[in-house]
Amino acid sequence: MSSTTEITQPRAAASDSFDIPRHVAIIMDGNGRWAAARGLPRVEGHRRGVEALRKTVRAARELGIAILTIFSFSSENWSRPQSEIRDLLGLLRRFIRNDLADLHNSNVRVRIIGERDDLARDIQLLLQEAEDLTRNNNGLTLIVAFNYGARQEIARAARRLALDVAGGRLAPKDITPELLAQQLDLPELPDPDVIIRTSGEQRLSNFLLWQAAYSELVFVPINWPDFDRAALEGAIAEYRRRERRFGGLIAQTGS
Ligand code: FPP
Repeated sequence: MSSTTEITQPRAAASDSFDIPRHVAIIMDGNGRWAAARGLPRVEGHRRGVEALRKTVRAARELGIAILTIFSFSSENWSRPQSEIRDLLGLLRRFIRNDLADLHNSNVRVRIIGERDDLARDIQLLLQEAEDLTRNNNGLTLIVAFNYGARQEIARAARRLALDVAGGRLAPKDITPELLAQQLDLPELPDPDVIIRTSGEQRLSNFLLWQAAYSELVFVPINWPDFDRAALEGAIAEYRRRERRFGGLIAQTGS
């Protein structure tokens, strides 16, 4: 019989801290609506979105969050008009060129998830440079989801297992959730404790579908360019009001 203090935790999902979530993931939504509400071009919303990102990274460091994952370009964003794709890729280039040194000096470790092979060569190199330069930092880990889709990530993982099966190194009966999780883009990372989405939309949009199994979802009714430290603290306060049970009986988080 299971005791009430036993909690089954898949993939180290829970934060050790009762106050600050260890891993926060954010769907930065609403840049276009922020711009439209002001009669500005969409690119201006994205530019202001980068400023909100800077503020959020600083706030995450100050609050002691260990891992911040941001959804900055989805596998599905390629269906946007060419001009907007150009703008978003340009902002990524500029973000890495302008902010990488500051991130490094702030002891931030940058990591990337998503499909890199079909990105422009210069972007692949910038992403690699960001990871290489910050590899030994041990402050905030900033995970940039770029050209990322969760279904694609899970399919990549399944493909790797299929290769092992085809090569005779793995029996199908030995495939477990844990084994598949080991083939995800960053297998060693704990799952997000909380996923925040701005703009009032309430869905995951192909973001971290595997890792979100036990994440708390917090939907914030402001557009991403208006997000700041106070908004992050508000979302964390909402997270702390949740009772996390991981399929068990006892809450892990809550104040
Ligand atoms: C959603 O707003 C946001 C994006 C598609 C991209 C997020 C990008 C940034 C915050 C800036 C770029 C950051 C980096 C690191 C390059 P939306 O355009 O879907 O807004 P809408 O739903 O109101 O139209």
